Amino acid sequence: MTIKKEVEFNQIVKDILENDKFIALKYERHHGISRLDHSLHVARMTYFMCQKLHLSDIAEITRAALLHDFYLNKENGNHAFTNHPDWALENANREFDLNPMQQNIIVSHMFPVGHAKPDCKESYLVSFADKSVATYEMLKYKVPLKMGALLIFAINFLAIQR
Ligand SMILES: [Fe+2]
Ligand SMILES: [Fe+2]
Repeated sequence: MTIKKEVEFNQIVKDILENDKFIALKYERHHGISRLDHSLHVARMTYFMCQKLHLSDIAEITRAALLHDFYLNKENGNHAFTNHPDWALENANREFDLNPMQQNIIVSHMFPVGHAKPDCKESYLVSFADKSVATYEMLKYKVPLKMGALLIFAINFLAIQR
């Protein structure tokens, strides 16, 4: 991203990144990193895609992308199969003013999983950005971590056997 685009991106998301409740996502684990970092990755990817596709409403779409996983863990279980898009929408509505497009982006971002369907191209775009980023993060941070732990366990196990 150029410095000019970086400055514009920071202006778009500034107030969200200053919100105490949103900052709390820094302490939530998500794909082997923090949920704050994951949300920023998705927002940046969305911003980049909006530029490439010459979409209007870039600020609104990018802000909704940043807020798409705005929730604290309420229950155990696989993140993909909780109704966390509803929790994120509830929190985002409480803290920020959202238009109907932004609300649909957040609530439908797990499509085809979950009850909400994207009703505009912007929602499909953020859902795609989220899946792309999530796949990258899982491969980069989560799988190597688990493989590393497994390897250490195997080495120790073999050492004990000898
Ligand atoms: Fe999500
Ligand atoms: Fe996500």
